[in-house]
Amino acid sequence: MKRDFLGFSQLDAAKIIELFDFSLFIKKQRRETASAAAYKPLAGKTVAMIFNKPSLRTRVSFEIGIHELGGYAVNLEGKSIGVNSREAVEDIAQLLSRYNNAVVARLHEHSIIESLAEHASIPVINALTDLSHPCQILADAFTLYEKGLWHDRVKVVFVGDGNNVANSWIELAGKLPFHFVLACPEMQEFQPDPSILEEAGKNSASVIEIMHDPVTAAKDADVLYTDVWTSMGQEAETDKRLDIFKPYQINRQLLESAKPGAVVMHCMPAHRGQEITADVMDGPQSIVLDEAENRLHVQKALLVKLLNHEEYRKFHLTHRLRNVASKLTR
Ligand code: CP
Ligand code: NVA
Repeated sequence: MKRDFLGFSQLDAAKIIELFDFSLFIKKQRRETASAAAYKPLAGKTVAMIFNKPSLRTRVSFEIGIHELGGYAVNLEGKSIGVNSREAVEDIAQLLSRYNNAVVARLHEHSIIESLAEHASIPVINALTDLSHPCQILADAFTLYEKGLWHDRVKVVFVGDGNNVANSWIELAGKLPFHFVLACPEMQEFQPDPSILEEAGKNSASVIEIMHDPVTAAKDADVLYTDVWTSMGQEAETDKRLDIFKPYQINRQLLESAKPGAVVMHCMPAHRGQEITADVMDGPQSIVLDEAENRLHVQKALLVKLLNHEEYRKFHLTHRLRNVASKLTR
């Protein structure tokens, strides 16, 4: 059975934690040059990458990650292949399935990536759509996990637009228990996706709250999180958004409402002076570069899970046996 990663629907809490443990292994192993050089679970495999929107982190981390694992990445500019304009998405999906072992795609409409996955016989990975950005949230939650900050009452407060990044946080809360609060303007257009919210709400182990006052929301937060006020594709609304989102800035004062020692996260690109002030973005509580770096390690782990499941299973079996052995010898 081929596995896609369009969002968190195919994962449960145990599988997400398994992926985090494998990401820790991948990250540690990259520092050990000799073992990294020998570890090529994607050898002989190729991945087509379609980017219909700009990208720095996603594109570079996927390309480098595929290369480090022994595979080869083919970069396709959305404009040149013309998804659903020069060529039907169904044809692109079937054709790429003949050449490649996976597709990584950053597209506008989420329905197009769903169609790509439906017609491809190879795994399709969501590298951001207008609806969601699951690779980002996987790396963000992993960042908290590796720092020992993840637990089922960790309070993550997202301040800003109920956009694709916020939607993926909510989707995660539907799978992994934690406390998620979104502080966004009251208008309908800035709310998160209602069906994602409804689905996530079924997980009674998580607390999901939508508020409109950022100061109330930030109270006792373990994590303050933000994203741009104007997402890719919304540039015509920039002026209106700059005005509406002004109260939704992460600044020193808002950080004081959070728990002492709370961490600050931003998926980047960031606009200092808009959604976040420079002193907070570059200050001692910011972990934005750690989360950006972790895109690489988590996506490498995801690629091995989707493209070489045998290797992924082998790691977990060995990992479990080692845990049992260490308990027995204690
Ligand atoms: N955070 C993120 O996805 O960055 P890029 O848009 O640069 O890929
Ligand atoms: N919400 C932003 C995320 C960028 C990584 C956008 O879609 O542009």
